[in-house]
Amino acid sequence: MTNSELLNVKHVSKKFEHAEKSGIRPVLTDINLAVKPGQFISIIGPSGVGKSTLLRMMAGISRPSTGTIDFAGRQIVKPSQRISMVFQNFALFPWLTVQKNIAFGLENSRKHNQGQIQQKVRDLINLIGLKGLEAAYPYELSGGMKQRVGFARALAVDPELLLLDEPFSALDVLTGEQLSSDLMTLWRQGDLNMKALVMITHNISEAVRLSNVIYVMNGSPGTLVRVYRLKTPVEQRTASQIMRKTLEITQYFKQMNRR
Ligand SMILES: Nc1ncnc2c1ncn2[C@@H]1O[C@H](COP(=O)(O)OP(=O)(O)OP(=O)(O)O)[C@@H](O)[C@H]1O
Ligand SMILES: [Mg+2]
Repeated sequence: MTNSELLNVKHVSKKFEHAEKSGIRPVLTDINLAVKPGQFISIIGPSGVGKSTLLRMMAGISRPSTGTIDFAGRQIVKPSQRISMVFQNFALFPWLTVQKNIAFGLENSRKHNQGQIQQKVRDLINLIGLKGLEAAYPYELSGGMKQRVGFARALAVDPELLLLDEPFSALDVLTGEQLSSDLMTLWRQGDLNMKALVMITHNISEAVRLSNVIYVMNGSPGTLVRVYRLKTPVEQRTASQIMRKTLEITQYFKQMNRR
């Protein structure tokens, strides 16, 4: 490992025990990848290949069966405030208001007093475009609004690494594109503490638009089968470049599934 790496996944495998049958099912095998500061990484692959399982291990919610995941040079053994995750299905607390959902991680960490928490939540509500909804409960919000709360909650703890599990897939296309472009603006402005992002997506053109590196997963147990490094800086990519790369990766996907 070099010092410039933020996250380092080394020879990670994951097995799950069957609930009913006795026996162990391998889900991931020998995953190796590194994330450097400044990078936006996407992971794509068929359903059930183990993408969410891998992301949960990066978040410290689950542990590898073998291998290790290091963050800033130290092995991840439990969740940390330095790494946040945005979930595919929003995963908000239905009994808490927007304000309380966003403040949740901050209140749990006990590092901030009430005044600081309220100020931080106010700033995030403005930043993420949720003004006027502070007292609303999740059931009163549209999908796009819920996912904005999910982003605000993840950003509240000032994470260095943001993990995104299909963050736009439950949203309609326009809302998803708006939210992803807002996220990119935040990321590029660089006034957050965030050093890198790892996103799972089924949307190849979204991955091509946003990322520096795209990892493709396949197989059972799942493994990384291909890496695309996109050299052109995100802001300089033209629509035709994006379309060409999307087609290339889509073709690879089709071939991969024919084998
Ligand atoms: N806690 C668990 N216990 C047992 N099996 C699990 C557990 N979590 C995931 N699995 C299994 O591991 C496999 C990979 O699941 P995972 O959710 O990581 O896939 P995925 O690539 O994210 O799929 P999708 O694109 O549909 O979200 C699945 O077969 C799933 O049933
Ligand atoms: Mg998943």
